[in-house]
Amino acid sequence: MVQNTPEKISVAVPRMPDADMVLPYLRRIDDARYYSNFGPLVQEFEARIAAGFGVDTDCVTTVANGTAALILALRAGNPPPGSLCMMPSWTFSATAHAAREAGLTPFFVDVAPDNWALTPEIAGAALANAPGNVAAVLPVAPFGAPIGYDRWDEFSEATGIPVVIDAAAAFDTAQPGRAPVVISLHATKAVGIGEGGLIISRDPELVAKARSLSNFGFQQSRAAALPGFNAKLSEYAAAVGLAALDAWPFVRTGYVRLAQTYAAALSAIPGLSVMPGFGQGWAGTTCNVELIHPATGAVARELARAGIESRQWWGRGCHQQSAFAYYPSASLAVTRHLANHTLALPFHLGLGPGEMNRIVTTVADGLAESAEAAVSAPLDQRAAAQAS
Ligand SMILES: Cc1ncc(COP(=O)(O)O)c(C=O)c1O
Repeated sequence: MVQNTPEKISVAVPRMPDADMVLPYLRRIDDARYYSNFGPLVQEFEARIAAGFGVDTDCVTTVANGTAALILALRAGNPPPGSLCMMPSWTFSATAHAAREAGLTPFFVDVAPDNWALTPEIAGAALANAPGNVAAVLPVAPFGAPIGYDRWDEFSEATGIPVVIDAAAAFDTAQPGRAPVVISLHATKAVGIGEGGLIISRDPELVAKARSLSNFGFQQSRAAALPGFNAKLSEYAAAVGLAALDAWPFVRTGYVRLAQTYAAALSAIPGLSVMPGFGQGWAGTTCNVELIHPATGAVARELARAGIESRQWWGRGCHQQSAFAYYPSASLAVTRHLANHTLALPFHLGLGPGEMNRIVTTVADGLAESAEAAVSAPLDQRAAAQAS
């Protein structure tokens, strides 16, 4: 008997502009014979980004990728080498790598349970017990969800500590203030161009400095005025970027609708909640859920058996990764909870109602089974599970 194996559902499938959409821009490169060095397409891309975010064009600079953009934005604030950069452990490893590459020591702190983000309150409390001089704070907009951007400018003014906001996945929700906001244009992001990044700030001097640092430290001439490197975006990447902006209204609507439908379907599952803010009218490219029981392993296995990929995008937090194991951290109770209780489900524009139904049913089955297992487990095992 032939058994039909269900079609695999991938956890992420990037949505980039197709070749036909990019072609008119590539033709312009052929005509202009200008390939890099902030050429006409990069300038047009930056101008459209600035208009979209409601800032002047000199408030935006493009960068080769989001990690380099974080390094440049941090370095533009002149932090003394070796001092601490406070950041959530609940983030992608790029956040910590960027601080280290900017000459800083990551100092991992916790996030708030209601938005999974570092807040000014948590940062203020952690400052009092910091094991050294905190020269920068690097909050993260988790998975592109909205955070209180203006409050970070207030924090910076009150403490005198520069803030850089890692809004890698937050193209749709970022609200740039004076604190530079860094957005990734990696293929997996809502506006993906392959590799790319943006620094946006209402402080044009800071943006000009980051831009100079991304271009060998050149300012008025080809003599290095600052110790920079090369992190410029090429004209080819800008061509994809312009095509991605053409497609954005349509792509955005797709992500917003998908999240709304998904959130409604998932909310019917007992013992599960979607990530704070998910399905509330903004576009991101991930669907993270929080489980009441620490049953992520059991649910992930059930999904894998059904041919459905899942992921823990941020693993157990940065502080658990060997590259960062020796850096200082504060109490990380919420981070530990999120590491044990959250899982990312497939989320991409190719998901139809049939796939979504398969995912939701399998998650519900996996959760129900692990809840039964929890009830029948010996008491000492239950106590251990609850403590995690
Ligand atoms: C939170 C966070 N910060 C930084 C980055 C780095 O961006 P890039 O991949 O463009 O270097 C990412 C990428 O996924 C991210 O999720």
